Amino acid sequence: MFSQLASTWMRGVMIAAVAAMMGSFAAARADEAPPPGDPVNGKRLYVADGCFECHGRAGQGGNFNYQTPALANIALPVESFISFLREAPNDMPSFSAEVLSDQDAADIHAFLSSLPGPKSPKDFPLLNQ
Ligand code: HEC
Repeated sequence: MFSQLASTWMRGVMIAAVAAMMGSFAAARADEAPPPGDPVNGKRLYVADGCFECHGRAGQGGNFNYQTPALANIALPVESFISFLREAPNDMPSFSAEVLSDQDAADIHAFLSSLPGPKSPKDFPLLNQ
């Protein structure tokens, strides 16, 4: 009897503890989340800041000294995207926060996420005959 009561009580404590932990994880994530991006402004910035010159107007990639990666339907999470822009390696110019704010970068990321990536060969009827 006692042990049954105790185990019911323990279960209650554990459920409360797990719920509290989940709550604090959710809060931590909300604090770190970058601002939600505006794809319309992102498209404007993508052109105004010259990203298109190397990465193509549709984010299809291009050439600048060597092959420039495609950015359409970008898989890179927005946090990594922003830190990449701040200290771009090799031939890509870096974009400091004075030139491109976190919000601007998140807008560009939202625009790139809205672009369709390359089609699969299965989507071309001629290639499937
Ligand atoms: C002068 C040409 C040039 C311009 C302008 C440029 N990039 Fe790049 N970008 C590159 C090159 C070259 C790379 C490949 C970097 C390397 O060598 O590792 C790259 C890589 C990237 C990557 C990493 C992609 C991946 O899959 O590895 C991102 C993201 C990116 N650029 C975003 C941008 C954004 C956003 C802008 C505009 C704010 C921009 N770039 C402007 C040339 C450019």
